[in-house]
Amino acid sequence: NLYSVAFAGYARATIEVGPAYLAPPEVWTHDPATERPPTLGAAEMYAERLMFHGPQFQGVTEVHALGDMHVRGIVTAPVPPGALLDNALQLIGNWLITTQPFRTVALPVGLGRVRFFGPPPPAGRAFVCVARVRSIDDGKLVADTQLSYQGRVWAQIEGAVDRRFDSHPQARVAERFPERYPMSHFQPEGWTMAFDCWTDLVTRGMAARGILGGAAYAEYERHPAKTRKQWMLGRIAAKDAVRSRLWEQGHTDIYPIELTVGNDPDGRPWVRGRPGRGLDDCDVSLAHCAEIGVAIARLRPAGSPAATPGVGIDVAEITDHPDSTFGFALTDGEAALLASLAGGDAATRRLWFTRFWAAKEAVGKAEGTGLDGKPRRFQVREATDSVLTVEVAGRAYRVGHREVDNPEDLPTRRYVVAWTWGPEPDPATPPGVSRP
Ligand SMILES: CC(C)(COP(=O)(O)OP(=O)(O)OC[C@H]1O[C@@H](n2cnc3c(N)ncnc32)[C@H](O)[C@@H]1OP(=O)(O)O)[C@@H](O)C(=O)NCCC(=O)NCCS
Repeated sequence: NLYSVAFAGYARATIEVGPAYLAPPEVWTHDPATERPPTLGAAEMYAERLMFHGPQFQGVTEVHALGDMHVRGIVTAPVPPGALLDNALQLIGNWLITTQPFRTVALPVGLGRVRFFGPPPPAGRAFVCVARVRSIDDGKLVADTQLSYQGRVWAQIEGAVDRRFDSHPQARVAERFPERYPMSHFQPEGWTMAFDCWTDLVTRGMAARGILGGAAYAEYERHPAKTRKQWMLGRIAAKDAVRSRLWEQGHTDIYPIELTVGNDPDGRPWVRGRPGRGLDDCDVSLAHCAEIGVAIARLRPAGSPAATPGVGIDVAEITDHPDSTFGFALTDGEAALLASLAGGDAATRRLWFTRFWAAKEAVGKAEGTGLDGKPRRFQVREATDSVLTVEVAGRAYRVGHREVDNPEDLPTRRYVVAWTWGPEPDPATPPGVSRP
């Protein structure tokens, strides 16, 4: 009486049915001397979102004890069908999180065998649940689990396989409480930067789904693998830049998926809040390069359209460029200014050229046109260690600039970030110091 069952493209199993339930095996027991009290209680596990399950799937109701290779507790059958099986595996998650120092994101990928020794239980039945870890390495954890009721085994899971993944320590709090914590680093001048912090495609995909939301996730998947991550870093930085303005206004919980990032036909980005949330609109600009995404957002007066010109930001890696690039990018006046700033030192010249270029790009974005292949239209007129003045089409922009480095766990890279809040005289604030 064997049946093959398939959820096409997702899962398959072999099901064996019989005329009656089999006699249950012995209930597993453990010598209390080999156990210690749990460090993470059942309620805390969900409240602290160390398990991401929502209320309907929160079936672990007590954690009794931890052993070197086992964990015991109570699992209370929830109402949704199938949730009980998930809950039995959640207890293994508790063991993993509390006993292992890293790779604590676990996703179930297979079950060796599940045997039932009685009919499906009513919701609310409290089962004693014991999970025994059979083997564990960096890649996966294999465990067996028993669910018993009144001293009799009701179900036994053998060979439940969890694949283990890593999550970046810095991203963890934002992964657990995305409505309150940014994935990006807020900068004192008011812009945001986000770095690549995913060690594998699975955790990056989870972040992409959670931060981007369904529609943008589909767009993410349509991007070539090479540009996908940068595209996402730009969106993370932009959503956080907007959330930072809204949090400053006094809003509290705002999930990243409540904000939608899109591009006008000319490429210029926009961010909109979920209708009905009463979130003000912002003018935004974003940029991405290698392992970094940066963004800037400025609140817009209620009901007014996107400002043109508006805000602009760019990030550029400090690298060498062929001489032809200097000729293409700079006017004679800018070349002279660059020479006066850099002298004969190649490294200083490289740095200043990158600053010039990033400032032009930032202004191109503020103008809503981009450089459009005509970088010499955007002219750097003055330069200090914190501000460049760029002119275009009769408008002058004060552009703040600063260097940032990749964090230590990424390839060594140094970037220039350049940003502007808009043309002078409005806003007439020093870009390196404050924001309108
Ligand atoms: C497209 C352009 C805005 C910047 O592109 P880039 O430097 O390759 O990429 P960045 O990461 O700095 O910026 C890209 C972001 O700019 C934004 N952007 C695109 N077009 C824009 C426009 N017209 N106005 C404002 N912002 C724009 C988008 O948000 C885009 O990111 P997204 O597509 O993920 O949303 C622009 O400067 C341009 O015209 N580039 C051509 C560059 C050029 O002249 N090259 C010569 C070779 S040396």
